[in-house]
Amino acid sequence: MHLAIAGSIAADHLQTFAGRFSDSLVPDQLDKLSVSFLVQDLDIRRGGCAGNISFALANLGQRPTLVAAVGRDFAEQGYQAWLEKAGVDCSRIHVSPSLHTALCTITTDEAHAQIVTFYPGAMAEAGTIDVAALHAEAPVDLLLIGPDDPGAMLRHTQAAREIGLPFAADPSQQLAWADGDLIRQLIEGAAYLFTNDYEAALVEQKTGWSADEVKAAVGVQVITRGKDGVTVIDADGTRLEVSAIPDVVAVDPTGVGDSFRGGFLAGLAAGLDLETCAQIGSTIAASVVETTGTQEYTLDGEAFLARLAGAYGDAAAERVGGALMISDNLS
Ligand SMILES: Nc1ncnc2c1ncn2[C@@H]1O[C@H](COP(=O)(O)OP(=O)(O)OP(=O)(O)O)[C@@H](O)[C@H]1O
Ligand SMILES: [Mg+2]
Repeated sequence: MHLAIAGSIAADHLQTFAGRFSDSLVPDQLDKLSVSFLVQDLDIRRGGCAGNISFALANLGQRPTLVAAVGRDFAEQGYQAWLEKAGVDCSRIHVSPSLHTALCTITTDEAHAQIVTFYPGAMAEAGTIDVAALHAEAPVDLLLIGPDDPGAMLRHTQAAREIGLPFAADPSQQLAWADGDLIRQLIEGAAYLFTNDYEAALVEQKTGWSADEVKAAVGVQVITRGKDGVTVIDADGTRLEVSAIPDVVAVDPTGVGDSFRGGFLAGLAAGLDLETCAQIGSTIAASVVETTGTQEYTLDGEAFLARLAGAYGDAAAERVGGALMISDNLS
């Protein structure tokens, strides 16, 4: 099964400020705001939803095609080599001649207040990627359309619908600002719809659709609920609840939803049933929530299957072990 993953590629710059931002703010002078914070450290991490999902898939033995727009720095600073080494096909990326890869800068103070800036950069050119041409040259079985430049998300979705290419809608954080009309266009006809539980409610509120109407607009609906697990509603409307991996010490939730998607899709690509797909997604997600960063985990095949067996039983682990090639990719 050839999976293509469209969405953002970004670098995350994480900085910490050993003080409180609020101590530097003068409430009645905010119209002249000018502040500078001396930060303690800088942690640069590879991120972006399409990068995270592709990385998870590659770790589970798939070779997904990344559909994303980046700057020249993507290759120069080693992010491309990192993904290729893991097993991601980066041959279809668009490299902007002038813009930098998207950059998310997050500065956190000692009270956990955050100042975040997001520079989309090359992501603005993601709409120039022609998924129909990609599909014509190397047929795609499922295209995931994740958070990205809004025009690109819409263009990829329309193209997929027109050529009958099955797609998975994963609008995630773009739901926060998107209006009901855009959301309807992004999800209608999707073979799969992925959201967390908050986003599922947001879809209903903004589209004006009931839960049943949302479900009727898509094939399979997957709603993740953090440590409370995941609900999968299949094409016939049958609900399936899969618990999360127990006793996980959550260190950093960033990217956990992306890795779940990667695990779920790896199961689909291997021809496994929806319940097993959700179990694979939950098992890889546990590794991500336990590590700082979104692509800093390593998977050991045996440990992965043992963990899956502990949560979901030996028969599930046997199914997964027989169907997936789990790599010790970075060891
Ligand atoms: N604390 C946790 N313990 C165990 N499993 C977790 C935990 N948090 C998340 N997971 C797993 O990851 C899946 C996705 O998590 P969640 O619903 O929080 O995604 P999300 O809200 O999209 O996260 P993000 O957008 O921050 O990546 C869950 O269904 C669950 O299997
Ligand atoms: Mg999410």
